[in-house]
Amino acid sequence: MKALVLAGGSGTRLRPITHTSAKQLVPVANKPVLFYVLEAIAATGVTEVGMVVGSTQEEIERAVGDGSAFGLEVTYLRQDAPLGLAHAVLISREYLGDDDFVMYLGDNFIVGGIDPVVRRFHADRPAAQIMLTRVTDPRQFGVAELDASGRVVGLEEKPPAPKSDLALVGVYIFTPAVHDAVAALKPSWRGELEITDAIQWLIDAGRRVESTEVSGYWKDTGNVTDMLEVNRLVLEGLEQRLDGKVADDCEIIGRVVVEAGAEVAGSRIVGPVIVGAGAVIRDSYVGPFTSVAENCHIAESEIEYSIMLHRASIHGVRRIEASLIGRDVEVTPAPNTPRAHRLVLGDHSKVQISS
Ligand code: G1P
Repeated sequence: MKALVLAGGSGTRLRPITHTSAKQLVPVANKPVLFYVLEAIAATGVTEVGMVVGSTQEEIERAVGDGSAFGLEVTYLRQDAPLGLAHAVLISREYLGDDDFVMYLGDNFIVGGIDPVVRRFHADRPAAQIMLTRVTDPRQFGVAELDASGRVVGLEEKPPAPKSDLALVGVYIFTPAVHDAVAALKPSWRGELEITDAIQWLIDAGRRVESTEVSGYWKDTGNVTDMLEVNRLVLEGLEQRLDGKVADDCEIIGRVVVEAGAEVAGSRIVGPVIVGAGAVIRDSYVGPFTSVAENCHIAESEIEYSIMLHRASIHGVRRIEASLIGRDVEVTPAPNTPRAHRLVLGDHSKVQISS
């Protein structure tokens, strides 16, 4: 079995955090979502990974390299235009050969990995195995309709009137039968070759498609509440590890990770919290469920239940909660008079101010 990881995407649905970076590299607990994907694949025993990349190829290659850090052999497959998930399968035809493969969308995050689903596929070997999860707004996803016995009878891509709340999770396992399906597809209303249509084609051709329902699922939809929640879930699993420099005048409570090269002084940190390499925290409070990325600066401030990305800094601000602070952002207090807010905000930013 091989794996096909999709790390392309047009970036048309731009949001503050993915403006300047590939969406697959959005960090959860200081680690890019794509790394969790590669770890989940490695855990199934699969080693050969085709990585489908587009315009952000360089950035992805810089992060992943040849895959050896994950125990994988990664081959980059260039998709010149973002023409859909089924198109990604089409251009990977030669790489995949006649192997079964697990296709994993690089911006999807599944708590607990995919090992059980892969094992189930091996035991049963249907033409396709899909994963489903209940979501509040199915219109943003592929949606499955099941019959009374739980068999998949129909699939629709981003339906305006969904027939269920069961969304297709971005992990699919296929036998080579999918190649016939993909070759027969016509572009959808959004101009893409939809993998959802390919699976529907298999169902229509009388092939067996099995589904498994999963919980603990997240994808980057630009929704900060969801992102803070998945960050919380992952931080729940931390063990205390203080590799960086923690001065004696600090109070460190619970599951706190301070990476080597980070420095904490005069501060109180209540876990679970992760502090990335090169970060400096001085005379501050960092509260539960906060991820502080590499090279961030926090001084004379309080922050809790938040995510700070690379090189962000907060100086003299009390108090920040439930916030997502992007790369190289600087947060400082405004001078007291006149009472006004001075803001420099990127496109699509959302700011809540007590006024
Ligand atoms: C794609 C699929 C959709 C699936 C989703 C999961 O959507 O087309 O069926 O539910 O991934 O992440 P897209 O990312 O193209 O919006």
